[in-house]
This record gives sequence, structure tokens and C-alpha cells, in this order.
Amino acid sequence: MIRLLYVSTALDNLDYKDIAAILESAQSKNADKEITGALAYNGKIFAQVLEGDEAEIDRLMRKIKDDSRHASIIELMRKPITERAYGDWSMKLIDSKDFDELIGAMSL
Ligand SMILES: Cc1cc2nc3c(=O)[nH]c(=O)nc-3n(C[C@H](O)[C@H](O)[C@H](O)COP(=O)(O)O)c2cc1C
Repeated sequence: MIRLLYVSTALDNLDYKDIAAILESAQSKNADKEITGALAYNGKIFAQVLEGDEAEIDRLMRKIKDDSRHASIIELMRKPITERAYGDWSMKLIDSKDFDELIGAMSL
């Protein structure tokens, strides 16, 4: 398994409903693929942690990179893991402006 962290720049006109739609579909699709993680959004920047099988994460990242709801996707970290930090979450929304939790998870 790996844990990956990326940041991206959201489209200007994303609203609460768009974020809810991203989250809802991520939660159902990730559960099928045993992908867990967390998504933070501060109104402009996304930061997302994804955990799971590396091939599954790479497949998902290709889709995420093609997604027109954001741009300038930068993978910041990728590391092998034996335990999940977000085992209880197919995708946890971190709706504060606080990215520290995600950065902190990468040091686990
Ligand atoms: C910031 C952001 C985070 C996303 N996170 C996920 C995710 O964790 N899981 C997922 O399946 N799709 C996620 N998506 C949606 C994917 O980019 C893509 O729309 C979706 O996987 C398409 O699935 P499909 O090919 O099965 O229709 C995210 C999109 C954005 C913009």
C-alpha cells in the first residue's frame, strides 16, 4: 500500500454543491477499490491524501488529473505504508482551512 498527497487549484466557480458531489462519488467509488483518504478544500486549493494499493491509486490519479474541476495538480509525497491513517474513511472531508492534518498524516 501507499499513501499519496497532492495539491491542486480548484476552478474559480466551484460551490458547496460541487464539493459535495465530488465527495459523494469519491466515497462510493473508493469503498469499492479499498481506497481511503481525506480531502481538504479552502475555497481555492484542494489537498488530498489517498491510501491504498499503488496500482489503484495510480489509476485514480489518472482520472483525477483529467478532471476539469481543478488544475495544476502537484504530487507532493508518496510513501509505502503498512497501516492506514484514514482506515475509517473512504473519503473524509476536512472542511476547515487547515491542511495540517493531511501534512501530519504523511509523517505517519
Ligand atoms: C479534488 C478532487 C478529488 C477527487 N477525489 C476522488 C476520489 O477520491 N475518488 C474518486 O473516485 N474520484 C475522485 N474524484 C473524481 C475523479 O476525478 C473522477 O471524476 C471520477 O473518478 C470519475 O470516475 P468514473 O471514471 O468512474 O466516472 C475527485 C475529483 C476532484 C476534482
